[in-house]
This record gives sequence, C-alpha cells and structure tokens, in this order.
Amino acid sequence: MNQKVRAAVFPVAGRGTRFLPATKASPKEMLPIVDKPLIQYAVEEAIAAGATKLIFVTGASKRAIEDHFDTDPELERALTESGKDGLLASIRNIVPDGVTCVYIRQGEPLGLGHAVLCARPAVGDEPFFVHLADDLIASDPGCLAQMADEHSGHGGSVVAVETVPRENTSSYGIVEIDERDRGRIMSIVEKPDPDDAPSDLAVVGRYLLAPEIFDKLENTGRGAGGEIQLTDGIADLLKERAVHAYSFSGVRYDCGSKLGYLRATVAYGLDHADTGSAFRDYLESVLDD
Ligand code: UTP
Repeated sequence: MNQKVRAAVFPVAGRGTRFLPATKASPKEMLPIVDKPLIQYAVEEAIAAGATKLIFVTGASKRAIEDHFDTDPELERALTESGKDGLLASIRNIVPDGVTCVYIRQGEPLGLGHAVLCARPAVGDEPFFVHLADDLIASDPGCLAQMADEHSGHGGSVVAVETVPRENTSSYGIVEIDERDRGRIMSIVEKPDPDDAPSDLAVVGRYLLAPEIFDKLENTGRGAGGEIQLTDGIADLLKERAVHAYSFSGVRYDCGSKLGYLRATVAYGLDHADTGSAFRDYLESVLDD
C-alpha cells in the first residue's frame, strides 16, 4: 500500500512584489478572498486531503500568518460575551485538534526550491504536499485530495498541471508527458519562451513529492532568475523516479496577480452565503450602467 501523505509544506516566504504596496508589511497569503485569507483556504484544502502536519516556510513580515493560526483568548471572550456565536465559531478550530503547525524561517528568499528544502527537517523521509496559497483552486474534492487519490494508485510523485495559452508558457514550469504512461513526465522546464516550450501544459501550485526531492534540491544550483528552482529539482528527480502530471478538476485563480485576485473575489463573492445574492444584484446594476 502507498504511504499516506501527512505533511503539507506552505512556502510563504516570497516578497509578493506584484502586490506592492499591499504586501510591504503584510504577507500576500493573508490577502482575503471575501472573509478568509488565502492561507486559510490552503490549510483547509491540505487538512481535507489528510494532512496532519502543516509546515509554513516563512520569511520577512510573515508574523501575521502565525498569529492567524494561533488561538486568541481575548477575542474569543469578547465574542462570547457579546453572543456572536457565528463569528466565534469562525475563529475557533481553524486548526483542528490533532493537526500541528510548524514554522521554519527561510533566511533569504533564494527561490521556491530553496524554500521547500528548508522544510526538510520537519517533513522527514515521507512523501509530502507542497501548496502555493496564491494559486486558489475551487473544486470539490479539493485539488490536493484529488492528487492524494492519484498517488495512491501508482505511488509516484504528482504535479498538478493545466493547459495555458501558448503565449503564457514563459510564466510557468512546462512539462512534456507520456500519455500512455498515466501522464508520466518526460521533461520539465522553467518558464520557457513559447517557441521553446515542449507543450502548453503548465505546472500550477500543487505538488505531492517523494522525499528524494530533497537530495536533488541540495544539489540544484541557481537557475532562472538566480533562484533555486523547484522545477530544476523535479527535473533531476524524474530521471530516477516516476513523476506524473495530474490535470485536476476545478477552477484555478492566480491570486498572485491583481487580475486573478479580482476574478477570485468575484467568483467567491457570488458563491458566498452572506454576499451572493446582493453582490449579484450589484454587479448586474454596474453592468447595466
Ligand atoms: P512567486 O513566484 O509567486 O513569488 O513565488 P512571490 O515573491 O511570492 O511574488 P511576486 O512574484 O514577487 O509577486 C511562488 C511561491 O513560492 C514562495 C512564494 O511565497 C510563493 O508561494 N517563495 C518564493 C518562497 O517561499 N521563497 C522564495 O524564496 C521564493
């Protein structure tokens, strides 16, 4: 039987420059979509996929994330006394019993591959999830749960992919796959020009990785943008072990970009019990103008 995935790594040490000045003193992952920060959607998705150890790789200005997942007795008391039970429930048990949080500091933002390597002491010798919170994926079951299911079928590493317009390949890791072998990845390249891209299948922010990736990342030099790229570590891993591309079902919102963030806000605002119908009326009135 394949090993159950218990650890989830959340690299949250990037500077979020595309969202400055909002991200000058507070992390991009704390930006809310309606009433929940991106990192809470991420944690809920990982827990629903079976994760019981949440490992946050943090950097400068990320204290707000630790505070968000900590208890706040003073706020709980105030909400109890004012009888605001719904709000009280929303801040309690964000991290349920039996789930632990670990915070590891990435001293310098040397890239996503380096951030993942920083999590090694907390992950140990087990397969683990990597979740990039700024890629918000609306799906049921969640994307990581779909990937855990896929992994239980063949035991190899799994990387979530989606088709992107050719002209956008230079924003993603791009894979070449063997469709006859359950989408096994033959090659992966970081941010290729459209003319050099091996396909239009782009890696998005969900991974289920074998622990052997850590040895690969130890030996991965600086790649594109002078950073240690996770893509380059995966390129080394797939020479020895199976890594499969997985086309998830769901809708992805790139909340690391302003437009993607606004799209997510509209979609989740329309779907939210508190705001849905009034927001729909409002949007219709705006479009009528
Ligand atoms: P991005 O490429 O989105 O970079 O990182 P960024 O710094 O977050 O945002 P921009 O491009 O400046 O606006 C992809 C993921 O890798 C993490 C980020 O937090 C994000 O989740 N990351 C990146 C790290 O944890 N450490 C790094 O050194 C770099």
